[in-house]
This record gives sequence, structure tokens and C-alpha cells, in this order.
Amino acid sequence: MGNIGAQRFLPEEISLPALREAARHCEGCDLHRAATQTVFGEGVPDARFMLVGEQPGDQEDREGAPFVGPAGRMLDKALEEAGIEREAVYVTNAVKHFKYEPRGKRRIHQKPTVGEIDACRPWLDAEMRLVDPEVTVVLGATAARALLGPDFRVTRHRGQPVPRREGAYYVATIHPSAILRAPDRDEAYSGFLADLTVAAGLP
Ligand code: URA
Ligand code: SF4
Repeated sequence: MGNIGAQRFLPEEISLPALREAARHCEGCDLHRAATQTVFGEGVPDARFMLVGEQPGDQEDREGAPFVGPAGRMLDKALEEAGIEREAVYVTNAVKHFKYEPRGKRRIHQKPTVGEIDACRPWLDAEMRLVDPEVTVVLGATAARALLGPDFRVTRHRGQPVPRREGAYYVATIHPSAILRAPDRDEAYSGFLADLTVAAGLP
């Protein structure tokens, strides 16, 4: 029990295929118990853009791929409008297992704890090192916690490039599923698109 962390489950050979295979057997925190499978990142290995979400949702958990449900459709639409091509993108999550509470036949999404985010971070760190994107789009507070630390506030600093290394940046924005829940969806979507457009235009 508890969050022993993913570090000890990392493979000796550090490559994306080796990481993906090893992550299938991760028991770094308790989330692997109730979830169907690990949902590892997917996309272009030398992508210019890395998009980091929170954790897989219900549909992602069943299919084993990130951002294939309603939030993913929202994200795809905005990426296209911002002029970011799917072929230039690697998509992943801060936490690789779906956390939920059963309610009747439904599974209700639960926010991961800081302990779970920290436990899972070795996978994300390894993906970041290997893909080494020029632009990392940080989708929502959980990804921001993992990548930008506890003091970063998405609401205050969204759409502002944060240097990661020479020639590489983070750009934080809201999570696409927050658009689906927003009282004014059009307004939420416009703000999201504006932040992605900043990311798309970075040198
Ligand atoms: N929300 C996320 O943060 N990630 C997914 O993969 C799907 C929904
Ligand atoms: Fe491992 Fe992350 Fe899954 Fe926890 S959520 S078991 S740390 S892959």
C-alpha cells in the first residue's frame, strides 16, 4: 500500500518503447489496482509539441490510449484551429492510471493526490527527457503541479511562456475537460485556443 513511486519500475534501457512496456507493470502507487491498464504517452518521438494532461479518463482507461474521449475531441479541435499538426505532437498525462469512484454502473473521475502525482512523475520526467519538445503545453492544475511545482497558478500565468531550457518553453492553460464543464463554453474555448495559439507561435 501507499505511494512507493514509479522509479523502481523504470527499465534499464531508456527508450520510449522500453518505458511504455515497463509502465504496464508499474505498481508505484495504488491507482494501478482499480484501473484497467496503464495509459502511457503516445505520438511522435521527436515531437515539437508535448501536451501533458492530468490522467486518463474512463474511455482512455478502456482503450489504453490518451485523449481519445470527450476531452480528447475538444483538444483535437483546438489543436487544428491553432495550426498545430497532430504529426508534430506527443500526448501524455501526469498520472498514468485512471482514478475513479464507482457510482452504480458509472465510474466518476477523481482528482489524483499530490502523492500520486509525485509517485508517477518518473514516467513523465523520462518522457520529457526523451521527446525533449520545444514546447510543452501544460493542461490544467495537475500537470502544472507535476511540471511547474506547487507555487505555479494556471489561472494567473496561463498563456505565458515559461523557459524550460535554452530554446524550449512551457505554456500552461486550462484542461480541455474544464471547457466541457464551463458555464460559458464558448468563452472557455476561446481562452484555451488563445493559449494554444501562443504555444503554436513560439520560436
Ligand atoms: N483527460 C486527461 O487529462 N487525459 C486524458 O488522456 C483524457 C482526459
Ligand atoms: Fe505507477 Fe503512475 Fe500507475 Fe501509480 S499511477 S501505478 S505511479 S503508473
